Amino acid sequence: MPRKTGSTAPMHVVGAGGLGRETLDALFALGLDASELVLVDDHPPAAELYGVPVRRPEEVIGVGHFVVAIGDPTVRRAVAGRVLRRGLLPTSVVHPRATLAHDVTVPDGCLVLANAFVSTNVRLAPHTQVHYNATVGHDSVLEAFVTVLPGANVAGNVVLRTGVTLGSNSCVLPGLEVGARTLVGAGAVVTTHHPADRVLVGVPARPHVRS
Ligand SMILES: CC(C)(COP(=O)(O)OP(=O)(O)OC[C@H]1O[C@@H](n2cnc3c(N)ncnc32)[C@H](O)[C@@H]1OP(=O)(O)O)[C@@H](O)C(=O)NCCC(=O)NCCS
Repeated sequence: MPRKTGSTAPMHVVGAGGLGRETLDALFALGLDASELVLVDDHPPAAELYGVPVRRPEEVIGVGHFVVAIGDPTVRRAVAGRVLRRGLLPTSVVHPRATLAHDVTVPDGCLVLANAFVSTNVRLAPHTQVHYNATVGHDSVLEAFVTVLPGANVAGNVVLRTGVTLGSNSCVLPGLEVGARTLVGAGAVVTTHHPADRVLVGVPARPHVRS
């Protein structure tokens, strides 16, 4: 995880949207300053944000670390692959006001925002995200590229397979498994196991049928 070290290798935040700016906030809170940071985006919204230069991917020189600040797991996976091929190394960013149990390790590519709570014996895989005010209960497993959006609540002993997204203020009850790439809509309560590739809404959560 990046810390203020005096290193000249910049930390790259890939994605200059809202989540990118939230990630910058975490990095500033960790003590880094704008001169140590680079934002990367296919469509730079400005030449710089808060003094941090915004570069296109093709302008990135393969020195330093990166985290992908994009919520969508599929896009995040593709972008992480592109940046790796440019020679940057993934690292994690954990806001200093997030709370992680003593036995939780944070693999490369993860992003944990302010006021997130990750309980004891939770296993996080690379490139998972736990956004602000979200909670992850004891003994849960978050596979690679899982995204837990603001205020979502994962109970204990839950398994979220690769690329699951939990919408804001959704909840997964204890001991349940959610299949790969399934998207749980905002405010939904997952009360039973669900397979891969569903969109779920409501209380209890049911497959979403567009009207
Ligand atoms: C579930 C979700 C993926 C559906 O997206 P969508 O397919 O684009 O849905 P639409 O916005 O077109 O809405 C379609 C219908 O579903 C309803 N709906 C949408 N999201 C819903 C939700 N979370 N719970 C219940 N109903 C929902 C809409 O009211 C609409 O109903 P109608 O057809 O009766 O008018 C999305 O609304 C959602 O909840 N995403 C999570 C986003 C989130 O938490 N973001 C946080 C970012 S910080």
